Amino acid sequence: MKELSLNILDIAQNSLTAKSTLVEILLEETDETLRITVRDNGCGMSEDMVRRVTDPFCTSRTTRKVGLGIPFFKLAAEQTGGRLELESVSQDVSPENHGTVISGLFYKNHLDFTPLGDVVSTVCTLIQGCGGVDIVFRHTMPNGEVETDTREIRAMLGDIPLSEPEILMWIRGNLEEQYAEVNH
Ligand SMILES: Nc1ncnc2c1ncn2[C@@H]1O[C@H](COP(=O)(O)OP(=O)(O)OP(=O)(O)O)[C@@H](O)[C@H]1O
Ligand SMILES: [Mg+2]
Repeated sequence: MKELSLNILDIAQNSLTAKSTLVEILLEETDETLRITVRDNGCGMSEDMVRRVTDPFCTSRTTRKVGLGIPFFKLAAEQTGGRLELESVSQDVSPENHGTVISGLFYKNHLDFTPLGDVVSTVCTLIQGCGGVDIVFRHTMPNGEVETDTREIRAMLGDIPLSEPEILMWIRGNLEEQYAEVNH
């Protein structure tokens, strides 16, 4: 994939599919590293599933098909000398406290580091399609931070859906303004 923001979209879409009510996307940047974490409170995965999703090519013929969203994310991290961490608690195991945390560590100065790309569009796409699911996005950089939280936006908007074009345009503008302030 040409941009890490597309990997993020993929990973966060898994969280929406998993019937989460809250999805947090955290980007933590230093001069040398970028850590991308997606945390959700969705249905979680069994231990067997966790093993299989991170290693799709090392499976027996009888294994049913699994996708490539997580393997691509893992590959993108590992090719920079980084790694993927995945923790998941299935709702079958823990009905009260379940969910998934997937985190990739990237070394930004590595030749094979994929640029982050248009993360604002990724966040807006997710918010557009999130329905009632809440999304928190926070990007911390050495010079400052960018943040949005649909719980706060919903509290301001009342009954207006986040998918209204005017609202999405406002969210996009607000994020771009925050990035401009950090990068000025
Ligand atoms: N956050 C999550 N919560 C629960 N299950 C998950 C989560 N993320 C992934 N999974 C499970 O792992 C599987 C593999 O995910 P992955 O993104 O690698 O492929 P996919 O979503 O099946 O297909 P695609 O290639 O379209 O992304 C999913 O089908 C889902 O069953
Ligand atoms: Mg997927």
